Amino acid sequence: MPAVALDQIIALCKRRGFIFPGSEIYGGLQGAYDFGPLGVELKQNLINDWWRTNVYERDDMEGLDAAILMNRLVWKYSGHEETFNDPLVDCRSCKSRWRADHVQGKCPHCGSTDLTESRPFNMMFKTQVGPVGDSGSFAYLRPETAQGIFANFNNVLTTTSRKLPFGIAQVGKAFRNEINPRNFLFRVREFEQMEIEFFVMPGTDETWHERWLEARLAWWASIGVPRERISIYDVPADELAHYSKRTYDLMYDYPSIGVQEIEGIANRTDYDLGSHSKDQANLGLTAQVKLNEDSTARLTYFDAESKRHLVPYVIEPSAGVGRCALAVLCEAYAEELTKAPAAERLQSVAEALAAFLKSAGKSEKLRPEHRDALVAQGESIAGELAERLPLVETLLAMPGADDIELGKKLRGQAQPILDEHYRTVLHLRPKLAPVKVAVFPLKRNHEQIVATAKQIRRQLQAESGVRTVYDDTGAIGKLYRRQDEIGTPFCITVDFDTLGEGRVPGLAGTVTVRDRDTMAQERVLISELQVYLREKLRG
Ligand code: GAP
Repeated sequence: MPAVALDQIIALCKRRGFIFPGSEIYGGLQGAYDFGPLGVELKQNLINDWWRTNVYERDDMEGLDAAILMNRLVWKYSGHEETFNDPLVDCRSCKSRWRADHVQGKCPHCGSTDLTESRPFNMMFKTQVGPVGDSGSFAYLRPETAQGIFANFNNVLTTTSRKLPFGIAQVGKAFRNEINPRNFLFRVREFEQMEIEFFVMPGTDETWHERWLEARLAWWASIGVPRERISIYDVPADELAHYSKRTYDLMYDYPSIGVQEIEGIANRTDYDLGSHSKDQANLGLTAQVKLNEDSTARLTYFDAESKRHLVPYVIEPSAGVGRCALAVLCEAYAEELTKAPAAERLQSVAEALAAFLKSAGKSEKLRPEHRDALVAQGESIAGELAERLPLVETLLAMPGADDIELGKKLRGQAQPILDEHYRTVLHLRPKLAPVKVAVFPLKRNHEQIVATAKQIRRQLQAESGVRTVYDDTGAIGKLYRRQDEIGTPFCITVDFDTLGEGRVPGLAGTVTVRDRDTMAQERVLISELQVYLREKLRG
C-alpha cells in the first residue's frame, strides 16, 4: 500500500533521520528543515544523478557554482525587485497574515472573514553586506540560482569557446520569504534548486522547449517518478512569470497536498541576457526589458554565420531538490503485508475497530468534521482490513481520535500484528538509496563472525565505493525491517555456514544476501560479492 498521507512520510523522515524540523531545540523555525544522516545521502544522490544526466552525459553542457550574494542591481534588472511578489492579506481579528490565494475569503486560523485587501509582498530576503548598515549596503539572498548563470554568461562563453546551443547547470541554495511556508519540504523559505539555462538560437527556442520537456520527464522516470504520475500544466498567459513566453509545469500528486509543481520548464526568451546588457537598443531584443544604464557588459553571442552579435534565447528547466526528494519518497514508500496473520487475530482487530467507530460515531466530544473524517477513514480500513491495517496508526493520529477511549484497545490489538506481519519499505532506486548494503553478524558476541562481517563491510566500502554499513544492534529480522524502512537494497548476513561451521556442508566462504524488494535470500561467495552487487545496484 503506498503512502496515503503526508504524515506517514514526515513520521518516517523524523524517526529514521532523513529530515528534521530546523532549530527544533528552540521550538523550530517555520519553513526551515535540516537533512539528517540519511537525508543528506538521499539529497546528494539526487543531485549527483541530476548532474551526471545533465552535465556529464550530454555534449552541450557546462557546470557553474555562483555566489549566493550578488550585487543588488542583478535583482533590479532581473525584474525581481518589482515583480517577485505574492499577494498578502491580514486577518483583522487574529492578526495573522496569509497568501491571498490560500484563504478563500476566510482566515484559516480563526475563521473570520474580516480580511484586508490583498497587497503585494516581495519575497526576497534582505541582508547587510559589510559593517555599515546604510541604504547602499544591503543585498538580497538569491531567490533563484538562475541569475548567477546569466551574470556569468560571458565568462563561461569565453572560457569554454562554446557554440550555440549550449547550457549551464547549477545546483544551489535559494531563499524565499514565503508568506505561509507549509506542507513539509514542499513550501519552505530556504531550499535548493537544480537549474539549467540552455542558450539557443532565437527561432529554435520552441523546438528546444519540447526537447527539454521530454528530457526532463525521462529523468524523473529514471529516479522512480514515472511519466504517468506526472501531469503537464501548460501555464496560461495570465499566470506566466514576468520573464516567460511559455512555461510547462510538471505536476505531481503528493499525498495530502494534492497536485502541485515539482519542476518548471520555462522559455525565458532573451529577457534575462537582454535585461542585464548595456546598449539594449542595438541588440534586437524581443523581450520588453527595463532600460539598463548600470551594466558594463553586453551578454551576447557572436554568430559566425551571420557575422553579427545576437542575444540567445533561453530554455530553463528548474527543479527544487526538496520537492524532488519528497516525490521520490512518496513513490518509494510502501506498507506491506509480509505474511498473513491468523484470521482470528484479524477478527479481534476488526471487532476493536468496529467498537472504536461506534463510539466515535456517537461521541458528543468530537467536532462534527472530525467525527465524520474518523468514521470515513475507519470504514475504509474495515473494508479491506488485512491490506489496510497499517492505516490504523494514521487513523489514531487523526484529530479527535485521542478523545475516544477505545482507541487504546484498538492500538493494543493492532500493534503486535503490525510488528509481526507488516513492514514499511522504501523501494528506492538503488542509485538513490542512502545506504546500499548493510552487513550483519548472525551472532554479535561471536568473535569470528563479527570480524568477518566487519571485514566485508570495510572491503565493500573501500573497493566498490558503495555506502556499506555494519549493524549488530538487534535480531536479524529486526535489522532487516530497519534497513527496509530506509530503502537499503541489500542486506548481507554472516553466519556459522560462512565459517564452515554450519549444518550445510559446502557453504564455507559464502554469505546470505537478501533482496529488499523480493525479500528473497541467496548464498553468494564472499569473493564474488563485489561483482554480484555491482550488477544489482546498477540503476
Ligand atoms: N528560476 C526559475 C524559478 O525559480 P520557480 O518555479 O519559482 O522557478 C523552480 O521555482 C522550482 O523551485 C519549483 O518547481 C520548485 O521545485 C522549487 N521551489 C520554488 N519555491 C519553493 C519553495 N518555497 N519551497 C520549496 N521548493 C521551491
